[in-house]
Amino acid sequence: MFGKKHKIQTQLDPDQLERIENAQRRIKQKKRLHTHFILFLIVGTLLLVGNLFLKIGATYTYFEIDWSFIVILLWVALVIYHTINVYITHKFMGKAWEKAQLNKLVAQQENRIEKLKLQLEKEELIKLKSANYSTTKAITTQNTSKLTIIAAAAENNVIGKDNKLIWHISDDLKRFKRLTNGHHIIMGRKTFESFPKPLPNRTHVVITNQANYNAPDGVIIVNSLEQAIKACKNDEQPFIIGGGEIYKQSINIAQTIELTRVHDSFEGDTLFPEINSDIWQQTQTIYHEKSEKHKHAFSFITYVKR
Ligand SMILES: NC(=O)c1ccc[n+]([C@@H]2O[C@H](COP(=O)([O-])OP(=O)(O)OC[C@H]3O[C@@H](n4cnc5c(N)ncnc54)[C@H](OP(=O)(O)O)[C@@H]3O)[C@@H](O)[C@H]2O)c1
Repeated sequence: MFGKKHKIQTQLDPDQLERIENAQRRIKQKKRLHTHFILFLIVGTLLLVGNLFLKIGATYTYFEIDWSFIVILLWVALVIYHTINVYITHKFMGKAWEKAQLNKLVAQQENRIEKLKLQLEKEELIKLKSANYSTTKAITTQNTSKLTIIAAAAENNVIGKDNKLIWHISDDLKRFKRLTNGHHIIMGRKTFESFPKPLPNRTHVVITNQANYNAPDGVIIVNSLEQAIKACKNDEQPFIIGGGEIYKQSINIAQTIELTRVHDSFEGDTLFPEINSDIWQQTQTIYHEKSEKHKHAFSFITYVKR
């Protein structure tokens, strides 16, 4: 117990440690400059006294200047160089350190923004689930379902061109996958044909006028929107997933629209119908900035029929 030295446990994080080390280095730098200056004053005075008053080496001159002046001039230059070094070129902690700190700060902020986005999306999901719950209750008594349109439309309402999507927004695809997972998805024949193969874990209901339309096993083929909705009677939330013709026919009977509004205008041949704000109430909007991952800014907007 007595006489034993206790080790002090340092609990500093690496950043704090770095700052302390930098501060210590800085103190040493200034001390060295200070010592240099004092030394210069003392030795300079001694040189002058020795040379001019005691006449030491009085015969040594360069260009008729006493040697002590030349030595002092050279030394002044050295002291100035040292001062510049300490106060200008090697300022406290240096530029590289400042840049590293800035990068760290930016990375931390980006991280935080990502977390906030995730949190918002989780909250959105919880809201949707609770809305689903109340609709499920209605389904059991009224045998109706919460028909939801899901679409991505540009500012000018364009949704596609040459039977293809125009943009690639990976977060939108993820959201589409998350919301429709396990549900029936109703679509026009052309939209169905724009997929390379049916989407996993979803029941496809394809609307066509063709009597003997050939589709892979598991895909339900119907000849009208009414038949499509009937085919989903056991699903609490079937989704209308497009394209333009089907959106136009279903916007009056759907209860919810999950729209991804892409904040740009595009040329295209297929449009999403106008959303009438007298009929549709916007209940949630989540804005996403343009980023390295996403070429266009976009918003996830939920509309519910008033
Ligand atoms: N951005 C988005 O969110 C999104 C989503 C989906 C699709 N899209 C895009 O939209 C475009 C496709 O849309 P679209 O309007 O051209 O085609 P569509 O709506 O996908 O399909 C139209 C076809 O559906 C059938 N149909 C439509 N109404 C019908 C009815 N009442 N009864 C029976 N059959 C009916 C007809 O098929 P038959 O000709 O076989 O009779 C018709 O030709 C593509 O560019 C696609 O990429 C965009």
